[in-house]
Amino acid sequence: MSLVVSKGNQDFLYQQVMQLVRELSDQGTLLPGEKLPSLRKMADKLTVSIPTVKLAYQTLEAQGLVEAREKSGYFLKAAAVQLARPKRIKLSREPVSVNMQVLIEQVYDAIHKADVVPFGIANPVAAAPTDKMLARTMRRVMSMAGSRAINYGAIDGYAPLKKQLIHRYLDFGIGIDNQELVITNGAQEALTIALKCVAKVGDVIAIESPCYFGIIELIESLGLKALEIPLCPDDGIWLDDLTQALSDHDIKACVFSTSINNPVGSFMPNHKRKQLVELLESHEVVLIEDDVYGDLYFGAERGIPAQAYSKKGLVITCASFSKTAAPSYRVGWLIAGQFAPKARRFKRAFSCSTSLINQWTLYEFVASGEYERNLKLLRQKLRSNKERMIWCLQQSLPTTVRISDPQGGCVIWIDLGKDYDSIKLFHLALDEGISITPGYIFSATNKYRNCIRLSYGLPWSERFENAIVKLGELLHLAKK
Ligand SMILES: Cc1ncc(COP(=O)(O)O)c(C=O)c1O
Repeated sequence: MSLVVSKGNQDFLYQQVMQLVRELSDQGTLLPGEKLPSLRKMADKLTVSIPTVKLAYQTLEAQGLVEAREKSGYFLKAAAVQLARPKRIKLSREPVSVNMQVLIEQVYDAIHKADVVPFGIANPVAAAPTDKMLARTMRRVMSMAGSRAINYGAIDGYAPLKKQLIHRYLDFGIGIDNQELVITNGAQEALTIALKCVAKVGDVIAIESPCYFGIIELIESLGLKALEIPLCPDDGIWLDDLTQALSDHDIKACVFSTSINNPVGSFMPNHKRKQLVELLESHEVVLIEDDVYGDLYFGAERGIPAQAYSKKGLVITCASFSKTAAPSYRVGWLIAGQFAPKARRFKRAFSCSTSLINQWTLYEFVASGEYERNLKLLRQKLRSNKERMIWCLQQSLPTTVRISDPQGGCVIWIDLGKDYDSIKLFHLALDEGISITPGYIFSATNKYRNCIRLSYGLPWSERFENAIVKLGELLHLAKK
């Protein structure tokens, strides 16, 4: 197709530019998630002015066909039509004990199979790999460490890394005392320690629904009870349901993703984080905020950790480098506040300390500026992958399915409809070398058997597009 606009045409020049972009999209020359030519390049090519192209792009943005990304340009979006939102579920009546081990084990086995298409594993870093940078950094650390390389590290973490994290939190107006911060083996250990600090066997813990299955399994293993609070696909937990639950039950603590939820990808805005903390602190209930996805936002700015809004010190923040640098390093942390003495004791009892070399390497990685640079790239890649995945799903799945519109992170939630069984689809897909995560394990009360979670934390390629086509073909076999 030749790129031309004509002054003789009765449409305005910017409308002709818009039409060109639409045609490029219709013909598949420009795919969802891909970058539009820059304003200057397009203007040069069409011999029109930059403001004309800008007006065309802005109008397309207003129409939902493209999106502007700060300092990066304009990108084609997947969905010109409004994406379907997963339905709101009813608030659970009673807290429940949980048991989901067998299926979770099968899901883990599936993601570790060689050569499988890894839609079932939420490892965003795979979209912008850090392995070479980290290997270089670790070699440097090993050459500096000497005999420290084979020693235990401090129980609460490598001091320079702690200081670095404390500085990063200062940017959000969160002042942390060195004693309050404990470095852990990933966010999972941080969540374990947080729960141990505030709850005892039999206590009721509110979780969002759907909820990351690692938290459900953790609650099970600690002998706690889970009460599911419905999640709004746009902006996190429904506060009116939480208010109701707080009046009906003796809730000990809540474990919520205050930033981006896994598996739906909802994003809780700052004002809602503030309301959440005020609500919970007015009931003297502890919030354990899971902020592992906080840095993987797609909007203009990162959300502020809920910790910033705490007036009574009842918020414990858990996070890690797993989603932004490397899950294999197992470096996370918790801001334990008033629970710090207990948290340090549990850390000592559970794992003594976190790998010193891994902490040191991550410290150097952040200090060098490479971490931040890669993070920017990672967000871009994930955003483009998301658009591409939605587009592929729209081509391959029936129009009746409901697809979430993640505002960050690396996973998407698909409600296949009540006639479908995601566990059947999980096994069928695995036979074809594709791992997916059945929705069933994201609820303590087996709610989401008709849903699946897919990860777009991948180095996108045709292989993944073909795998989505295959999932579409398998779907009719996964009817109940
Ligand atoms: C929402 C959520 N919280 C916590 C974790 C655990 O993170 P980590 O690997 O740092 O232990 C994960 C990992 O997938 C997660 O998705």
